[in-house]
Amino acid sequence: NNRIKVRDLLSTDETEQEVIVMGWVRTFRNNQFIALNDGSTNNNIQVVVELGLLDEATLKRITTGASLKVTGKVVASLGKGQRVEVKASSVEILGDCDADKFPLQPKKHSLEFLREIAHLRFRTNTFGSIFRIRHSLAFATHKFFNDKGFIYLHTPIITASDAEGAGEMFKVTTLPFDAPPRNEDGSINYKEDFFGKGTNLTVSGQLEGELGAMAFSEIYTFGPTFRAENSNTTRHLAEFWMIEPEMAFYDIEDNMNLAEEFIRYLIQYAIDNNREDIEFLDQRLTEEEKQKPQNERSELGLFEKLEFVINNKFERITYTDAIDILLESPFYKKKKFKYDVKWGIDLQSEHERYLVEKHFKKPVIVTGYPKDIKSFYMRLNEDGKTVAAMDILAPGIGEIVGGSQREERLEKLEQRMREMHVPIDEMSYYLDTRRFGTVPHAGFGLGFERMVQFVTGMTNIRDVIPFARTPKNCEF
Ligand code: 4AD
Ligand code: MG
Repeated sequence: NNRIKVRDLLSTDETEQEVIVMGWVRTFRNNQFIALNDGSTNNNIQVVVELGLLDEATLKRITTGASLKVTGKVVASLGKGQRVEVKASSVEILGDCDADKFPLQPKKHSLEFLREIAHLRFRTNTFGSIFRIRHSLAFATHKFFNDKGFIYLHTPIITASDAEGAGEMFKVTTLPFDAPPRNEDGSINYKEDFFGKGTNLTVSGQLEGELGAMAFSEIYTFGPTFRAENSNTTRHLAEFWMIEPEMAFYDIEDNMNLAEEFIRYLIQYAIDNNREDIEFLDQRLTEEEKQKPQNERSELGLFEKLEFVINNKFERITYTDAIDILLESPFYKKKKFKYDVKWGIDLQSEHERYLVEKHFKKPVIVTGYPKDIKSFYMRLNEDGKTVAAMDILAPGIGEIVGGSQREERLEKLEQRMREMHVPIDEMSYYLDTRRFGTVPHAGFGLGFERMVQFVTGMTNIRDVIPFARTPKNCEF
């Protein structure tokens, strides 16, 4: 089989070679020029059908969306913007596509419309670019950690613990919904459930990741995580992918350095390997920006934004500094924030965006959050009020990374667990790491879709995952 992919074909210098190309018709002009695409690039290969090669009935079946097998000779192209084209010696129709029923016409469709036909949107240039970049970032993630000697640890999807203690979990059960077995006090009797206890879809692989780090020193997880938070925003999904490295012998500084290096690496990898796709999305974004009023337009194009992040160190500030900056901001003084600002609050996305987009104009790492708004496993600082947490905030996205140095001291950890009503007895396995050779350690979680959003410039998270799960929306 000498099938060649369109991407390879477009860069070949070997004219006169016989090739087979297969793909889907984007357009068919003048009963003569087929633009064929196979998803390897946004650029189509032009197939030239000479007069008399195909009968009238076959020509009619070459419609937008139909799939073809083309055999022919590679020739230099006279058309602009393409080096070569294929002079067809045979065209076989693999699958017809009724042009009247096919929802994708060769014109611009809105992202909202395309979300409703997520099963077909892969065949558009925008989504072709997005999902090739998504693939690259996933591949680069494995490369980055593998090159550093990290072990890829597969953590479970079904768990019995709530890693974040936020109670935003999807239950996993085989009990009948309408009439579950009950205890005498009326509560559901999970002893009769599949696992003999209540279980959930994981919200994070961190706790299991910590167990791995206590043996392999450095591990990472990369898998789907699930949150039943009822947030209908452009940054939240109910099912999203998270990358969670966990490192023994790292303190919070080491943790921040690794996270920053990783983000830069991902961006550089995409620039080196997906230049064409980023350029396409950059153009798309520029057009989108033109629709906005002047004062709301982004100052930098996508490429410039990415290069800026690679070339400038992230700002590092404490939570206390962040609160002071917000309190002194013209935004606060003119009462432009919806949520109040004072020490102890959880930073809202409007606050995060002010810090990154208006104040620092670059990614910011915030450390030393109040212990009461963070999870039980974070290491208590000397002041007894704050923890060794670190969040990375990115322009246009907000929080992209959440991480911390972990509490490795058994007594302090148990005390935090009691204070926060975390079930200590059920988490004895986790405390074992602190009992048997505990070490300082740290880790973080990068929201993969938010990273893909950043690199592609897409404003809605639903557009960077193939099939989005959000409140009241689970198509397919
Ligand atoms: O800040 P989070 O909740 O941290 C953790 O889960 C830690 N266990 C990570 C760790 O230290 N190993 O989530 C981490 C990141 C966030 O910064 C955000 O990028 C992303 O996960 N995230 C979401 N992405 C999409 N949809 C949601 N609903 C998300 N919730 C969190
Ligand atoms: Mg967080």
